[in-house]
Amino acid sequence: MRTQVGIIGAGPAGLMLARLLQLQGIDSIIIENRSRDYIENRIRAGLIEDWAADMLTEIGLGARLNREGLVHHGIKLGINGSLHHIDFKTLVDKRVTIYGQQEVVKDMVAQRLESGAPLLFEVSDASVHDIAGRPKIRFTHDGQAKEIDCDFIGGCDGFHGICRPSIPDGVLSVFEREYPFGWLGILAAAPPPDEELIYSYHDRGFALFTMRSATLARSYLQCAHDEDIANWSDARIWDELNRRMGGMRPLAEGEILQKSVTPMRSFVVEPMQYGRLFLTGDAAHIVPPTGAKGMNLAFADVLVLSRAMTAFYRSGDDALLEAYSATCLRRIWKAQRFSWWMTQMMHLFPDDNPFDRRRRLAELDYVTSSEAAAKSLAENYVGLPMDGR
Ligand code: PHB
Repeated sequence: MRTQVGIIGAGPAGLMLARLLQLQGIDSIIIENRSRDYIENRIRAGLIEDWAADMLTEIGLGARLNREGLVHHGIKLGINGSLHHIDFKTLVDKRVTIYGQQEVVKDMVAQRLESGAPLLFEVSDASVHDIAGRPKIRFTHDGQAKEIDCDFIGGCDGFHGICRPSIPDGVLSVFEREYPFGWLGILAAAPPPDEELIYSYHDRGFALFTMRSATLARSYLQCAHDEDIANWSDARIWDELNRRMGGMRPLAEGEILQKSVTPMRSFVVEPMQYGRLFLTGDAAHIVPPTGAKGMNLAFADVLVLSRAMTAFYRSGDDALLEAYSATCLRRIWKAQRFSWWMTQMMHLFPDDNPFDRRRRLAELDYVTSSEAAAKSLAENYVGLPMDGR
């Protein structure tokens, strides 16, 4: 097989890269080791920044997003039971859209398959070769060994993928921080407690009240990083959510449809390129979910990459390709900073001393009482401007 860009991974990064290239007349083949059913139902956060929702609409993915996505013009912050509004509309005049990541994936898969462009599921043993020269991707599909010859490889295969480890030792620098807690997330058949998201700081730990629809609540509780989900009966979860809500809103209970524990980490590799292999999204960086940046950063990476590849194919100019890593990393580090800042402000740390706790409360008081501080939160939360959009 031969294509211009071989893409490994059919998550938001790989599917979006393929679509942006397709609109510029650049061919790609996407391979994915999971099944279609798996990637379309994998539950992840689902908050789309202002510019990213516009881009999804422009590239033909707006129909269901604009019908089912929930547009939010602000969030609420809870501080030990007192509720404060951060109004994005008046602070920065932008919005965010709640639309589950798996819904974006479903829309992109349908669009890709409808266009007739190749997307192969359930491949195994994928490996990359000659990435500094003439790249090849080898894998097994339907029991047969296959090889793709390509000009470039999009490494869109997530944190646990094969692309990052294929880069020779010594090339990448890793910047990393693990947090001493995780999030226990639930999806419940119950109306969400507020029309906006509530990020609640509480002396018992953080809780987030978000949603998927008017009848589906999604909630998270700060828990131990190695929390055993078996210790959390439905009754214990509701009790703890109620305590951390601290009476700010009544909490409707309903059947818990799904529960899981997510560890929290910040992670970046530099550079994001080696030879003709370009890492995108979670393959290159992870943010804690407190800032809701994961999918948005993946979209930003592949927008930069698609523009660079387009320039290369139009004029043979590889300046933008050479700049790919540096261009992306400026945005990524600002998203890392914001995600870390939200995380440290909203969570209890096991080694906090009384000074740390007072300082955190002062920070929350500042953010909810100073327009300048609230504006900074809002500007980052809705997504920093994306060059050229
Ligand atoms: C979610 O809706 O799942 C969600 C929203 C905002 C976050 C994290 C998760 O910061």
